[in-house]
Amino acid sequence: MLDMFDLSGRVAVVTGSAQGMGRAMALALAEAGADIVLLDRNAAGIEATAHAISAMGRKALPLGGDVTDTDHIDGVFATVDKEFGRVDILGNVAGEAKAGPAEAMALSDIRATFHNLVISRYYTCQHAGRRMLAQGRGSIMSIGSISGVNSLGREQSVYGMAMAAVIQMTRELSTEWAGRGVRVNCILPAQVLGANGLGPRMEADPWLRDTFLRGIPAGRFGQPDDIKGLSIWLASDSASWITGAIIPMDGGNTAMNAGGGLLAPIMEKHLSKK
Ligand SMILES: NC(=O)c1ccc[n+]([C@@H]2O[C@H](COP(=O)([O-])OP(=O)(O)OC[C@H]3O[C@@H](n4cnc5c(N)ncnc54)[C@H](O)[C@@H]3O)[C@@H](O)[C@H]2O)c1
Repeated sequence: MLDMFDLSGRVAVVTGSAQGMGRAMALALAEAGADIVLLDRNAAGIEATAHAISAMGRKALPLGGDVTDTDHIDGVFATVDKEFGRVDILGNVAGEAKAGPAEAMALSDIRATFHNLVISRYYTCQHAGRRMLAQGRGSIMSIGSISGVNSLGREQSVYGMAMAAVIQMTRELSTEWAGRGVRVNCILPAQVLGANGLGPRMEADPWLRDTFLRGIPAGRFGQPDDIKGLSIWLASDSASWITGAIIPMDGGNTAMNAGGGLLAPIMEKHLSKK
């Protein structure tokens, strides 16, 4: 029965795998048997992840560089072809965004955010998708965000717009590719701790911490490891009829329509002025 979760002999490419959810996803897929190609501009970070994967007896290929550099991504997939000759799993996790009041967002920051979160994810999907379609099998998982379906009220309009695009990319690609064996799904996390700066920001502002927690019925923040089981399931044959799914990983946030907390940070600012 547990054989259907076995990823032995599969090859996964995971971006953003130097830390946080990307690292946790890469480790989980390796624990389930896959060999992993690691992509992150934090070279030391992916070396460390690769080391942990090698210690499990799997192959790990750490390839540094920026996911917004399309020439680099071309080179990464050429290397994957040479080293493994196949791609079975893609985890699109790398990401960062510019934030600020909508009326003041610079065009360059809007472009950079869309390039980082949307174009890069689409471009890696194209590369992996072509190979998976030729194989007749593959699973793509992209990280979106709860901010792609609800406004968090944190002056993150561009991030929310980009994550909404990632969600729609998932629906479009899954529809195009489902009949040819390639599954495309999207995971929507709420606030997940890690080395991403969220912890220190909340330490400096306990109000922010309490506001976020009011939006998470489970009563705790996410941890990177919360993505492990979901990643193995989506990557494996046990999810063979799951495609086009937009899956909250949020301690209940979306179900309660809670966004960035029951009273969004931006609303509290406005109300306090009245
Ligand atoms: N942490 C959260 O609360 C949360 C919630 C919802 C969605 N997300 C999204 O999930 C993903 C992972 O978040 P996290 O907090 O686990 O990660 P993180 O911020 O801890 O790490 C992101 C990783 O991506 C890499 N990266 C960023 N831009 C890159 C680029 N252009 N090229 C190569 N590498 C790049 C970084 O070096 C880093 O290792 C991100 O896309 C984030 O937007 C995070």
